[in-house]
Amino acid sequence: MFIGIDLGTSSVKLVLVTKEGIVKRTVSKNYDLIIPKPSWSEQNPDDWYSRTLEALRELVIGFEENIQGISFSGQMHGLVLLDKNDNVLRNAILWNDQRTVKEVDYLNNEIGIEKLLEQTGNIALTGLTAPKLLWVKSNEPKIFKRISKVMLPKDYLIYKLSGEFASDVTDLSGTLYFDCENRKYSEYMLEILSLDKKMLPKVYESYEVVGSLKKELQKLLNIKQKVNVIAGGGDQAVGAVGVGIVGDGECSISLGTSGVVFVSSDKFNIDKKSHLQSYAHANGKYHVMAVMLNAAGALKWWNEDVFDDNDYDDFFKRVFETEIEESLFFLPYLSGERSPINDPYAKGVLFGLGNHHKKAQLDRAIVEGITFALRDSFELIKELGVDISRVRITGGGSKSDIWAQMISDIFSVEVIKIDTEEGPALGAAILAMVGTNEYENVEEACEKIIKISKVFYPKYRNSKLYDMKYSKFVKIYPQIKELYKDK
Ligand code: XUL
Repeated sequence: MFIGIDLGTSSVKLVLVTKEGIVKRTVSKNYDLIIPKPSWSEQNPDDWYSRTLEALRELVIGFEENIQGISFSGQMHGLVLLDKNDNVLRNAILWNDQRTVKEVDYLNNEIGIEKLLEQTGNIALTGLTAPKLLWVKSNEPKIFKRISKVMLPKDYLIYKLSGEFASDVTDLSGTLYFDCENRKYSEYMLEILSLDKKMLPKVYESYEVVGSLKKELQKLLNIKQKVNVIAGGGDQAVGAVGVGIVGDGECSISLGTSGVVFVSSDKFNIDKKSHLQSYAHANGKYHVMAVMLNAAGALKWWNEDVFDDNDYDDFFKRVFETEIEESLFFLPYLSGERSPINDPYAKGVLFGLGNHHKKAQLDRAIVEGITFALRDSFELIKELGVDISRVRITGGGSKSDIWAQMISDIFSVEVIKIDTEEGPALGAAILAMVGTNEYENVEEACEKIIKISKVFYPKYRNSKLYDMKYSKFVKIYPQIKELYKDK
């Protein structure tokens, strides 16, 4: 049996599966987000490890003799720094932290977009790892001097569980010091960041074995046999494996805290207009993706933070029973936005309110706004010449059939749900299976394990109404973007 560990932003989720993909047990443990200042976002790597260990102890009970391999899906881009004694130097700075505006300006304008694209295939964004390193260098120089190891969130788990200083091509793709096309560090970028290669983990493909579970942990978990530790990858690539998006031109949409349109590709595509992230994929090939920062996260904010209500069945019932109307819009840029506007100053907006509006219409506007923002990204990917007629949906938001139908209507594509909700954790377990030679390659494993459960087809009348509404939606942000900058 195989263990997939999904190190997320609010919790770590572990899944234990057979090689046929049958889920035997899942365990999940939460941890806190630390917000030292508005728009900053941190976590303590030792919380990740201690919660993972607690979850592992519960997960393996009764299955100790069957465990063959462990792999990972990790929240991407986070900066984890260790000193020479392997102590964590400061809290990890996470993917959704927006403090690096100055550093991003420096990279995109002084080093220059052209050079960055040549070296890495990508431009600088506030969420990526390289600008975070520059921030530490300028703002916490004493800490910067003491850095001995730089790693990504899931690499910290690999290190603690196996003792190996290892990372993988998909997660490193999100650092901006990695040459994604050629799957190796960019010497040029390392120089800019004053990083020595010795401070960085060894590079693996996501399905490769990096080592085995430490002896003392085997003992703690009551496991006698050797357990392989497989590199795993960033949550987007591994999540795509978990829903079977590994073939050329296949597309998934993930409705997690963030929202992602993801396309798997046999060749490396650089988006010259620089809005998309072009990375290595977990099957040994490539992918391109557009990430918006608040998808299901914006829904959670609206329901749980604003209305102290977590009844999502009721919420979507209200949305379903409300007409598509033309005047009410929501821009979901609650913590700035990455794709497609790449504006850390952007804010959320409810636009077009009238005194006839009731709560249900606002509810509908929130989901529509998030879905329109996803369509912006979808349109950009189509502009690369990728022909997409169906998408698979994944992530917490994909539980709702009403949202699935809305995506089908707004994007005018077939929307496919698959028969598992484990996404990234299952993807990680699949990588562990490939690493231990249960399957020839990632494609074969996905083909055998992942099954379609439901298909939604676009409803012509709704698509037409949404098209009209979308054509107005795209006009709102450009009109008001200058106002955000006054802060
Ligand atoms: C990808 C990204 C998110 C995080 C959050 O670029 O920022 O997927 O990994 O989970």
